[in-house]
Amino acid sequence: MALGLITKFNHYNILIVSLCVCWSSAVDITALTNVGNITGSIEDINVGPNTVKISAYLGIPFAEPPIDSLRFSKPRPKPKFNETFLARNYGASCHQFKPFWDTSTDTDYQNEDCLYLNVFSPDTEQSGKKYAVLVWIHGGSFLFGAGRMRPCNILAAYGQVIVVSINYRLGVFGFLSSENGAAGGNYGLWDQHLALEWVKNNIAGFGGDTTKITVFGESAGSVAVMFQAIYPGNENLFQRVIAESGSVNADWAVTKDPASKLKKYAARLSCTRSSLEDTVACLKSIKNPTEMTSKSDLTFSAGLLDWCPTIDNDFITKERIEALNNPTHETQLTYFNQLDLIMGTTRFESDQFLLNEPEYESTFINESATMTDVEMAIRAVIFRSLSRIYHPDLVQFILAEVIFQYNNFKDPFDKNLCMQQLENYVTDVEFFVPTYKALESHAYEKNSSKTYQYEFNQLNPFRPHHPWMTGAVHADQLKYVFGSVYMMSQNETVRNTEWSLAKTLMRYWTNFAKSGNPNTPVPLDVFWETYDRQARKYIYLKSGEIEVRSNLNRRRAEFWTNYLQGLIKKYSDLKQEKPICNPTSDAVIVTSYLMMLVVGITFNSLTLI
Ligand SMILES: *[C@@H]1O[C@H](CO)[C@@H](O)[C@H](O)[C@H]1NC(C)=O
Ligand SMILES: *[C@@H]1O[C@H](CO)[C@@H](O)[C@H](O)[C@H]1NC(C)=O
Ligand SMILES: *[C@@H]1O[C@H](CO)[C@@H](O)[C@H](O)[C@H]1NC(C)=O
Ligand SMILES: *[C@@H]1O[C@H](CO)[C@@H](O)[C@H](O)[C@H]1NC(C)=O
Ligand SMILES: *[C@@H]1O[C@H](CO)[C@@H](O)[C@H](O)[C@H]1NC(C)=O
Repeated sequence: MALGLITKFNHYNILIVSLCVCWSSAVDITALTNVGNITGSIEDINVGPNTVKISAYLGIPFAEPPIDSLRFSKPRPKPKFNETFLARNYGASCHQFKPFWDTSTDTDYQNEDCLYLNVFSPDTEQSGKKYAVLVWIHGGSFLFGAGRMRPCNILAAYGQVIVVSINYRLGVFGFLSSENGAAGGNYGLWDQHLALEWVKNNIAGFGGDTTKITVFGESAGSVAVMFQAIYPGNENLFQRVIAESGSVNADWAVTKDPASKLKKYAARLSCTRSSLEDTVACLKSIKNPTEMTSKSDLTFSAGLLDWCPTIDNDFITKERIEALNNPTHETQLTYFNQLDLIMGTTRFESDQFLLNEPEYESTFINESATMTDVEMAIRAVIFRSLSRIYHPDLVQFILAEVIFQYNNFKDPFDKNLCMQQLENYVTDVEFFVPTYKALESHAYEKNSSKTYQYEFNQLNPFRPHHPWMTGAVHADQLKYVFGSVYMMSQNETVRNTEWSLAKTLMRYWTNFAKSGNPNTPVPLDVFWETYDRQARKYIYLKSGEIEVRSNLNRRRAEFWTNYLQGLIKKYSDLKQEKPICNPTSDAVIVTSYLMMLVVGITFNSLTLI
């Protein structure tokens, strides 16, 4: 995700603050692992106002380089090191369009040989103490990012946990699929799986407790975390999951029709062949991976959502995804149901994604756009969005109902309220409702595991906002989760408020990693109650307003899960009665199309995320 960051947010100067590491004081430390000895550095780092020591092991290869014959293949484990491995520098990032984090102070480079992980451990004395482990899977639409993108050392030091960040293959290298044996797809997910195996087998050497491993991620990283959590082959590799703003049952989590994308892509690289096998062989033989990346944007600038996970009936099955939507199918999810789970969303997940809509400049932020312009633009966005999910006839059947739900009835002449409703729509469809369904599924039959929900809503004080944006947007919680917020303000009042919230989030997250319960071992002011299907309690995370609430967005959740499902059932019943042509729905279709055409809206297939 987070494409908007690259295209339009650059001038807003969102900094992923680089860590203040005092290299001069670095001292070697060697971890004895099952793959051999690994030497990292003990560093002094800033944790809020304090300076503390942390061990950092950077750029550890966990797989054979996925190049040549291993391109478009499952990763192979790296054999044992023959001599001590020096883990002093980050490994290369996987190939991607220009990275969207701050590269001005960063010597980042990309390479197809990119399967490296980093370990940050509070264990600087090899005291024999055991630490809980958090493994971070970064987001970025399955197209961007790297483990190094977030400073993981503050969280490790503050929470006294080990934090591991990993790279996985992105874009075509991570997800190209032929839907047959030629190119199986999901290499990026297999990379993550292999990294998780590596952590399980080796983290004890860094002081890690292999019975307390949590996988956490955000956005596409959260989708990845959920794919790992419902994959039975991960049994025993980890015990808990934190999924921030993303679930596998969202429509954008899985690429539709990957083989036709592969063919379209192959044509650009002059690799069209009569069989998919030969086409893939040709793509494997291309020597220039930078060119392969730069030509991989098929339907949207920067290839947004072209290269996501695919149903391969190996790592991913349709049944397991569906089981999240329908808890009575839980037998598919035995492993998932045993994991402790935190899932949550931000108040407005949508802001960046609306940047990709053609109406963004012309209407939403255009001061002279009229209320009618705004209403028509909102209708167009909702129409396109539904069309990505449902059959065109069904879209026509439900369109008016959906638009009605997201009408602004408070003050119909207030553009900002209208925009807020559109923000709610995108939040619901792409993030909140899939998350809600996954929570309901996880909480369906309570055995030993726990379920927790959060909503994060701290308005980012370091970024300008549109007047309708009155709460946190996508990814806003990360600078708190990783404790990097302290360095972002010179103003002491702001700095202390923000740091206080960061400490709260880091404490809940690391408590959970240690015990499966965000409230222990270090108690906080607010006791975060578990989620169940009656009260649906969740924690509201905002500076000065942290509290347990109930039934987040209840009406919106009910609309999508019950009301709309009923309507969809009615539609399929009607279709069975009159399979050829239904005059009522035809009238609806014609009217709606006319309305769209009148205002000159083009039905292109731009994707939202
Ligand atoms: C790893 O380090 C330990 C302790 O220094 C040493 O005994 C052992 O031989 C080393 N192993 C390898 C494979 O170098
Ligand atoms: C270790 O040495 C063996 C034998 O020379 C070699 O095959 C293997 O690739 C080496 N391992 C690494 C990680 O370099
Ligand atoms: C802003 O809206 C007005 C009125 O609809 C329109 O004429 C104008 O072209 C728009 N400006 C831009 C930059 O799209
Ligand atoms: C929960 O416990 C019940 C009764 O012991 C058992 O039948 C069921 O399979 C368990 N469910 C899961 C998801 O483990
Ligand atoms: C710091 O921020 C607070 C809250 O935004 C503001 O009231 C105060 O004036 C600021 N102080 C300085 C010195 O800028």
